[in-house]
Amino acid sequence: MFYFKQIEINKNICDELKTWCASNMQTNNVPFVLLDSNKFIQECPLFINWTKEQELIVKLVVGIKVNANNEQIETQTPHIDLMDNNRNVALNFPISGCEGTCTKMYKLIKGEQINVDLPDGTTYSKFSEDSEFKQVAQFYLTQPTFFNTSVPHQVFNDTDENRLSLSIRFESNPKRLVN
Ligand SMILES: [Fe+2]
Repeated sequence: MFYFKQIEINKNICDELKTWCASNMQTNNVPFVLLDSNKFIQECPLFINWTKEQELIVKLVVGIKVNANNEQIETQTPHIDLMDNNRNVALNFPISGCEGTCTKMYKLIKGEQINVDLPDGTTYSKFSEDSEFKQVAQFYLTQPTFFNTSVPHQVFNDTDENRLSLSIRFESNPKRLVN
């Protein structure tokens, strides 16, 4: 099972994405927001060149916000955010407030998965109240990270700063990179 892989990407590319996020990410407290991917593709040429080298095509661009001390109720339990099983690997970038926050990944050992199909074509899954999980992996989003969104996960933000990250989804999984 692929969980995550942290990779090196040129600082200029990471800075381009941070600058773009400063004026294009959600300013409300919604944890998961679909951003304008056409605008992203036009305005982030360094990153788009990198994706071409990797034979990746950008499909969706998502802003993920986990407020200080996991203030939003949706961020207080594990979830899955998935397009489909052929496109379950996202590339996540730290944008701000990521230091000291941890992403934990789990295996469901008891309880039920509840799938909610969203209008944008993605599926958000939560779990029944009686669910129990076993932790299978964890990472700190201190650098770009390929990440299996079909594994239940939760971000822990015990800091006093809101945590912003950018999640890029591709037309198909980056097999070359994650194997
Ligand atoms: Fe998520």
